[in-house]
Amino acid sequence: TREARHMKIAVAGAGVVGLASAAGFAELGHTAICVDIDKEKIASLQRGVVPYYEPGLQELTLRNMAAGRMRFGTGIHEIPADTEVVIMAVGTPSDPDGDLSLTAFWAAADELADWIEKCACPAVVVAVKSTVPVGTADSLEEKLRMRLPPSESGRVDTASVPEFMREGSAVKDFFEPARLIIGSASAQTAERLTSLHAGLPGRVIFTDRRSAELSKLAANAFLAVKISFSNEVAVLCEQIGADYNDVAGVLGSDPRIGPHFLGAGLGFGGSCLPKDTRALVRFAERSGAPQTLVEAAIHVNRQRTERIAHKLEEALDNPGASTIALLGLAFKAGTDDMREAPSVRLMEELMRRFPGMELRAYDPASTEAARGIVPGQVRICRSAEEALRGADGAILVTEWPEFGKIRAIDFRNWMKRPIIWDGRNLLDADELNAHGVRCIGTGRPILRRIAFDENS
Ligand code: UDX
Repeated sequence: TREARHMKIAVAGAGVVGLASAAGFAELGHTAICVDIDKEKIASLQRGVVPYYEPGLQELTLRNMAAGRMRFGTGIHEIPADTEVVIMAVGTPSDPDGDLSLTAFWAAADELADWIEKCACPAVVVAVKSTVPVGTADSLEEKLRMRLPPSESGRVDTASVPEFMREGSAVKDFFEPARLIIGSASAQTAERLTSLHAGLPGRVIFTDRRSAELSKLAANAFLAVKISFSNEVAVLCEQIGADYNDVAGVLGSDPRIGPHFLGAGLGFGGSCLPKDTRALVRFAERSGAPQTLVEAAIHVNRQRTERIAHKLEEALDNPGASTIALLGLAFKAGTDDMREAPSVRLMEELMRRFPGMELRAYDPASTEAARGIVPGQVRICRSAEEALRGADGAILVTEWPEFGKIRAIDFRNWMKRPIIWDGRNLLDADELNAHGVRCIGTGRPILRRIAFDENS
């Protein structure tokens, strides 16, 4: 049983994970301060404006600010001394070697050590939500305790509470977690974190700190493996004339496999899956337990853009003299996040392989975010129609519902040659093909050299 007891908590880091957690815990009745060294971000939040696109987060934040359960600060020194739980949610991006960069994390830990030493807080649990290498919560505890006299070292304890929320559904995922992981070395800490989460559904899995840390990396790596597996089977389908949609339906109906993350496409991207899989590979290598499957998943992911370039080459007479429209730029539909977006790799591959190809791109959310990230030669359009007008072909990169609403007649009226490579199998290929639009899906038989009817 989880007993509700309202606590004073603090969250370090006001990114999606930090802010959604702070606002979510405030909604559960706790009092939260969310701190970040980014003064602009904090100033915006203090005005009640969430400075990025995340459905529901704005309302949740405003409601809890108005109720007096949530406020913001520009540093750890602003955390009140009677805070019971400090959640570490600072970003851990990839460093150039593919490891997780802990620069911001340890900088925050240093500030936290000063705070614990000076403020004489009675007993604080520091719960790590940032995705970190295994052993980080252990090292953090050692670092914080070193600053206290030995008789007082028990004033601080660390735990690992990894976060699995997805961008675009962070608020929903906070309130409906598939499971909650509490990795700690002491029963009191586990108990305090259990009451922190009281009110949330989902099974609580208690474990040690290292297992909790590894679970997060392993879960993301498993999802990456599942996607790359799907993508390789899809290529096989294209080669032999089988339909991946049907194969995936069969796979997904087996409860041992499960229906999710079997979607073939241009590969996985985003701020987590690519970086966490790389980090696991590096960490595992150093630990003497190489993760060859995960390495292969990364390799397969890199080949996705070559595959689509190959498919274009197969179907177009003169790709170098063609104009191609890309629909979807951000790493997935429903977000404006361009981090490790497959669209960027795709554009680079097309430009390298087909010098002279003219590229245009449209995304319903990331027009602004995409500027400066996509290669300069690519024209960023304000609508799908603008991107498609006069194009010799289009590639559907992400599954925004608005792309699914474009009718065969629109494709035919707007495009010079109505041919679509549907990267996510969003469109009704049979319907489009029946109405004179060539739709080449992913994991569906490749059509060899299409004969265009110039008058259609
Ligand atoms: C992911 C994890 O899902 C989440 O648990 C973790 O905490 C952070 O990383 P997110 O980065 O928001 O969340 O993206 P997600 O929705 O998982 O998609 C990741 C990538 O995989 C996207 O590029 C998406 O397009 C791709 N994907 C997903 C597929 O190619 N096929 C699928 O079937 C599912």
